[in-house]
Amino acid sequence: MLAIIGGSGLTQLSNLDVTRRLAVRTPYGEPSGALTFGRIAGEDVVFLARHGYGHTIAPHQVNYRANIWALLEQKVEGVVSVASVGGIRTDMRPGAIAVPHQIIDYTSGRKNTFFEGGEQPVTHIDFTEPYSAQLRRRILDAARACGEAVVADAIYAASQGPRLETAAEIDRLERDGADVVGMTGMPEAVLAREVGLDYATIAVVVNSAAGRADSLHGIRLEDIEQVLQQSLARVRRIIEQLVLRA
Ligand code: HPA
Repeated sequence: MLAIIGGSGLTQLSNLDVTRRLAVRTPYGEPSGALTFGRIAGEDVVFLARHGYGHTIAPHQVNYRANIWALLEQKVEGVVSVASVGGIRTDMRPGAIAVPHQIIDYTSGRKNTFFEGGEQPVTHIDFTEPYSAQLRRRILDAARACGEAVVADAIYAASQGPRLETAAEIDRLERDGADVVGMTGMPEAVLAREVGLDYATIAVVVNSAAGRADSLHGIRLEDIEQVLQQSLARVRRIIEQLVLRA
């Protein structure tokens, strides 16, 4: 069974036939909401809304550890995260969808490990390739099969938020090599790796990053919602293909 963590705008999957909801507690506290079990195209999936079902949990306040732990306990085969991002690279304009292959982490002050020391031996995990190559491949194949154009590589910059970036900060991220910027990619990815879960992200570009293209003089938040809704219909199709081909 595949797990899907839905980000902004994706608090539910319209193609999900819900069978049950399960409120869980974990040693790390409560996840963002109840786990929603159901079927997409006849296949079992479990869905979790990252920001809560009423979209009330800010990116820096998401209990990423509880979310990943709750899904791990359901013995999921992998986690597909859907996240909205700002586009930095010129081909990452609103409406683009990317499957990032790398991460740069600019977040701070988040609980970013299950290995907290104390009684546990210190553990350093390999994170050279932060995403599961196999799950990325499956997503890309699914996108191709349903004719949805996706960008097959992108470096994801994880920013702290909840504010958007300054234009100079985006210039810096670009110099660092980042292609898209979002607020939730870390520590979600590393926590999944720490517990051995395959993890990959479908990144939906909902705005040009600050100081870029149509965001040259500011980001129009009212435009974001429209782009998001159109793109999420495409994401749903990709996910349907993905589970069908499992
Ligand atoms: N910056 C950071 N996170 C985001 C953005 C952005 O421009 N758009 C959507 N999530």
